[in-house]
Amino acid sequence: MLDLREKRIVVTGGAGFLGQQVVQQLAEAGASAAKITVPRSRDFDLCTLEACQKVAANQDIIIHLAAHVGGIGLNREKPAELFYDNLMMGTQLIHAAYEAGVEKFVCVGTICAYPKFTPVPFKEDNLWDGYPEETNAPYGIAKKALLVQLQAYRQQYDFNGIYLLPVNLYGPEDNFKPESSHVIPALIRKIYEAQQRGDQELRVWGDGSPTREFLYSTDAARGIVMATQDYNDPDPVNLGTNTEISIRDLVELICELMNFEGKIVWETDKPNGQPRRCLDTTRAKERFNFEAQTDFKTGLKNTIEWYRQNAE
Ligand SMILES: NC(=O)c1ccc[n+]([C@@H]2O[C@H](COP(=O)([O-])OP(=O)(O)OC[C@H]3O[C@@H](n4cnc5c(N)ncnc54)[C@H](OP(=O)(O)O)[C@@H]3O)[C@@H](O)[C@H]2O)c1
Repeated sequence: MLDLREKRIVVTGGAGFLGQQVVQQLAEAGASAAKITVPRSRDFDLCTLEACQKVAANQDIIIHLAAHVGGIGLNREKPAELFYDNLMMGTQLIHAAYEAGVEKFVCVGTICAYPKFTPVPFKEDNLWDGYPEETNAPYGIAKKALLVQLQAYRQQYDFNGIYLLPVNLYGPEDNFKPESSHVIPALIRKIYEAQQRGDQELRVWGDGSPTREFLYSTDAARGIVMATQDYNDPDPVNLGTNTEISIRDLVELICELMNFEGKIVWETDKPNGQPRRCLDTTRAKERFNFEAQTDFKTGLKNTIEWYRQNAE
């Protein structure tokens, strides 16, 4: 196991939703807080090579989480930015890390890289079997290119880069902004605001039929740190729970947990996104013994509670 105590570690995106949890889990795994660096976008725009070179200099490990991310709305509105920013950040940072002699690079990809009609549960070996769901393809493909880059750098330069594929995340501190949030925070906010206004109706995108899998952010962060310590192979690895829930059941569950009793109206003219999402999580268990621990209802209750306390 890699001993983190003396390692100089950069966590790009370390102030973000997942990043804060990763920094905390690194500390719990023995990393020294004084040796962890979190470059902020206002100081280091990682879309530029110069910033990537500065961030990679004199470091042992880079955990790359910085990304331009959002839900289905943002993916529809800004596909060009999502493609360019995520590709440029990742590809230049990997190259800068290789040139700077960084010992290990941990790249966090996305489930949006999987083909639209992947057989469920998604196995890592299915990643290249087809084109991703169109709405999130620019984001998914930009991130998937980084897997190819890391495998090529391993083959030619013996550079130790690993690639993880977390499923949809949720948890406290998530992004609740309507223009860019993912489904769980979007629903929590909508229901909260409907309750504040006394609305008797909740309007939800799509027809409720797609299924999704959700991983609590603390679990995802623990998986990333376990892989940082124990995983050194070129094969990508899913991080998930291997359970799926339909959007219809999810909406009903969140309404129940928030005591919202109004009517749910499905806006069927709005997109559903990918039809099904559920990961095979065998590889993470076999290669570095990762399993998610947080029960879904408990995780949702924590998230709802956090939002209620922090909503403006
Ligand atoms: N959320 C999910 O459901 C999910 C699922 C699977 C994978 N992931 C992956 O997990 C990672 C973290 O996602 P997240 O949800 O935690 O996102 P997030 O909260 O939006 O955090 C992303 C971070 O990236 C940084 N960043 C963005 N553009 C940058 C730039 N040009 N230069 C430097 N830093 C930049 C931001 O730093 P500043 O705060 O300094 O601006 C921000 O803190 C991403 O790689 C994402 O693809 C997320």
